Amino acid sequence: MSNLKLIKVTSSEEGAEHVYQIIEEELKNGQLHVIGLATGSTMVPVYRKWTASNLDFENVITFNLDEYVGISAKSPNSYAYFMQEHLFNEKKFKKTHTIDGLAEDLDKECADFEALLEKYPLDLQLLGVGENGHIAFNEPGTSFDSRTHVAKLTESTLGVNSQYFANDEKIPETALTMGINSITRAKKIVLLAFGEKKRVAITKLLEGNMTTEWPITALLGHNDVTIITDLDIRK
Ligand code: GLP
Repeated sequence: MSNLKLIKVTSSEEGAEHVYQIIEEELKNGQLHVIGLATGSTMVPVYRKWTASNLDFENVITFNLDEYVGISAKSPNSYAYFMQEHLFNEKKFKKTHTIDGLAEDLDKECADFEALLEKYPLDLQLLGVGENGHIAFNEPGTSFDSRTHVAKLTESTLGVNSQYFANDEKIPETALTMGINSITRAKKIVLLAFGEKKRVAITKLLEGNMTTEWPITALLGHNDVTIITDLDIRK
């Protein structure tokens, strides 16, 4: 388990402080040119800290992990909107890439996104985790070799994520997502997990058995993963 560095914190704010320090250091050392970003409540304190800081991202390119199919970037339920609200309206980046859930040809949208990821390899990927162990929208059973693709969401994910859906918009049953291989090609991965609902997923990861039933365990095959969590879990 030596590839996993565990940082135990007491709050998501303290977790955001650790992420800040990692990012500040990477920027200072000239090692952060391309960053993979995530959405979800876990990331809110992280981006709040960045926007309140003088971190300079003007030379940094971003890629976002995923997006719902059929939801416009103008909808508050889209991940593109989340990014505008929580980060992009406040901080200038060299270029930001989000996947277009309204693309006419979804497979082409995925292939184009993956081609961009190959052209601009990720230096660092920020990750959250779903209660069922999904990373981005790679649900249980997804191949560890997967690249950006159209994913069918599980009942579990639909149930959890629909709670955040505003304006009576119905949660889509499909999404576009970076694949597990797209994610694990990042040089460095920083995974955040706060609260009891993430306990099973983080426990599965720390147990050390790679299985597609728990997509998060794909990180066991990576050599530079930092886990920041408020959960007390014995290895
Ligand atoms: C969604 C996203 C994931 C994210 C997860 C956790 O399903 N596709 O990328 O990690 O939610 O969200 P939260 O941080 O709100 O718990």
